[in-house]
Amino acid sequence: MARPWALSALLGAAAVAAAVGVSGGAAATLNGTTVRMATPREVAGPFFLDLRKIRRDVTNGRPGVPLYLNLKVLGNCKPDGSGCRPKADALVDIWHADSRGVYSGLPNEGVNATGRDFFRGALLTRPDGSATFRTIVPGWYWTRLAHVHLKVRGAPRPPRGSPAGRRPDDGFVTQLFFPPPFLRRVYATGAYAARSARRGDGGERDAYTATVGTDFELRGDGRKFRALLLAPRPATEGWLRANAFAVPPRWRLRQGKGGELGYVASYTLRLRW
Ligand SMILES: *[C@@H]1O[C@H](CO)[C@@H](O)[C@H](O)[C@H]1NC(C)=O
Repeated sequence: MARPWALSALLGAAAVAAAVGVSGGAAATLNGTTVRMATPREVAGPFFLDLRKIRRDVTNGRPGVPLYLNLKVLGNCKPDGSGCRPKADALVDIWHADSRGVYSGLPNEGVNATGRDFFRGALLTRPDGSATFRTIVPGWYWTRLAHVHLKVRGAPRPPRGSPAGRRPDDGFVTQLFFPPPFLRRVYATGAYAARSARRGDGGERDAYTATVGTDFELRGDGRKFRALLLAPRPATEGWLRANAFAVPPRWRLRQGKGGELGYVASYTLRLRW
């Protein structure tokens, strides 16, 4: 059930891969290695909604393995990712699919999620450039590795004496990915695992397996993919308290097989503006 945009992205990446001689099979190096370079851009895709909904917790109470996305936005970076300075008061949007691979706000994946806003939210960065969201590990959908969309813009504050306000620029758009072994572990649990069983035909599970092995970003540019790869680590009570997040209630912890508090994934965006 490939969407036209995904298909053209796939063909585009395949053409790029052929042109520059990048082979697939970068999977062996998917170990959370940080590649130090200016953060690569990725396409926004068709699911961005400019809601400006400022909130740390974007879950709307929906199920999934907790993920604390700990972002840091640095600006004025050189192409090699050096020389950056923290970017305060930037507007950071995240949006991603739920445990079933469904986006809120529009009809997709056979669900009409019009009017819903789960797994969408925005924060203004603190003086040190940081912003931390409470979300879940996203589910997968056909043709794509699980990913979190991200958009960074100048803060949309009206300057003094300008009643109309200032239109924020289009900003910096990218996508963050997860190591496939991590996803396989998560997808064997709770709301994620229920998905294939409920649909019953096993086709989605096959799609997931194929997607993990052959996602087009991975084929097209292994270095770019690695530069956008998160390295989630288990969340501790200490981390949650230090970052002013409530420790999740017991009933939610039982969703994950290990009864985990979820995961923390820290990522530093090194932007060239
Ligand atoms: C989805 O739901 C909205 C609001 O309930 C409705 O207006 C719209 O027609 C629906 N779209 C589809 C494709 O069913």
